[in-house]
Amino acid sequence: MKTKTIFSCQNCGYQSPKWLGRCPDCASWNTFVEEPLIEPKVASRHAMHAALLGPLPVEPVLLKDVENQENIRLKTHIVELDRVLGGGIVKGGVILLGGDPGIGKSTISLQISHQLAKAGSRLLYVSAEESVAQTRLRAERLGAANSERIYIVNQTDIAVIIEYIKKINPEVVVIDSIQVVFSPDISSSPGTVAQVRECAHTLVRIAKTLGISMVIIGHVTKEGAIAGPRVLEHVVDTVLYFEGQRNSSYRLLRAVKNRYGSTNEIGVFQMAKFGLEEVENPSQFFLSERPEQASGSVVSSVLEGTRPVLLEIQALVARSSFGYPTRRSEGFDYNRLNLIVAVLEKRLGFHLENEDIFINVAGGIKVDDPSCDLAVALAIISSFKEKVVGKGIVVMGEIGLASEIRSVTQVSLRVHEVQKLGFTQCILPKNNIDIQNNFGSLLIPVSTIAEAIDKALT
Ligand code: TYD
Ligand code: MG
Repeated sequence: MKTKTIFSCQNCGYQSPKWLGRCPDCASWNTFVEEPLIEPKVASRHAMHAALLGPLPVEPVLLKDVENQENIRLKTHIVELDRVLGGGIVKGGVILLGGDPGIGKSTISLQISHQLAKAGSRLLYVSAEESVAQTRLRAERLGAANSERIYIVNQTDIAVIIEYIKKINPEVVVIDSIQVVFSPDISSSPGTVAQVRECAHTLVRIAKTLGISMVIIGHVTKEGAIAGPRVLEHVVDTVLYFEGQRNSSYRLLRAVKNRYGSTNEIGVFQMAKFGLEEVENPSQFFLSERPEQASGSVVSSVLEGTRPVLLEIQALVARSSFGYPTRRSEGFDYNRLNLIVAVLEKRLGFHLENEDIFINVAGGIKVDDPSCDLAVALAIISSFKEKVVGKGIVVMGEIGLASEIRSVTQVSLRVHEVQKLGFTQCILPKNNIDIQNNFGSLLIPVSTIAEAIDKALT
């Protein structure tokens, strides 16, 4: 009998009965791989889990008697991480840690293990990619090598891994990485969507039944042959992505899904000689490479979760050599940019129709806070007019279609950050000025873009 097969996108898990060049779901090219079709055989699945775990706890219990596991959090004492997680690792919670190869996933996982072990937890680190000796070397560098309570094994067979979990009975398991773990019951090769999903499902079940927390590492993959972490996002409780630019030592940890907390917190780290260090003042980091006396550079404020962060918005306005000017935006919403340009043209009479406009948010952060509108507008005018916005100035405000400046949320939090970092002038919406005025001459209220241009450009 011919085995049935299906084609799966290795980036997002989309399935199709025939091969496709481009995935209709995630739009990536050349990512379809033929895999044997696995029917969800409910009965045999349960049989397998029963064999692995013993009988399933299927007896209903009273709702009021259900233990609230969310309250049982293991603090990693890595403040940046605990905040992103919403207070620590939840008992029985499964975290997917995704990111490019070499970004620091193994490093932070070892550091987490070390911290948890120090606080008394028992851990199992499944070093599926690297030998235990390699991991030991890295642990030495991180000062984690002599940790009590960290067990380590180099194993890729999911059934054996589960045997070890049951034997060692750890509070936390790290799987590094899921893409090399495989189940011998499935004929497709390790790393394919079918394998990665099946193994992750099994791990999640173990986590839930035994109340074990897990960190599952997944590489973001460029080539199509290996399934990326996206195919697991719906299987786990929390999805964290580790981001950073190749040539910079800074790393951002971002939650894109969190059943136990918010998703708008970021953690900022720096890869140093002895592992990842926390960056306690992200504003300083985002502003660290700001050019002095350059036109088109403006500092603004965003709220990342509960934290105010100052960052630099850059604009480059250059005469277009073609009939149709280019608008590009990196880190700022493209449609919002077009709206701001339209307001500048229509309401203030700037002739931008023959200008290419490029916007960049420095530091690789993505801004999703309308309070940056005014900074974008000022950066454009600053570059267009070749006039510098003073070094000590921070700008915040949302722009309305009539070119009015609308108020921003959490203004005192933001202004405190401005003051803390030693800025001398804060241009902000007039409607926000009712905050207790103990900021002296720091605050400069404006109600239109024209007023802001007047105050900021020299
Ligand atoms: P790693 O954690 O192995 O990345 P991943 O698991 O995401 O593939 O990190 C590897 C990089 O980090 C490597 O380029 C070396 C660097 N590194 C440091 O700079 N300092 C350190 O203390 C460690 C452990 C790694
Ligand atoms: Mg690694």
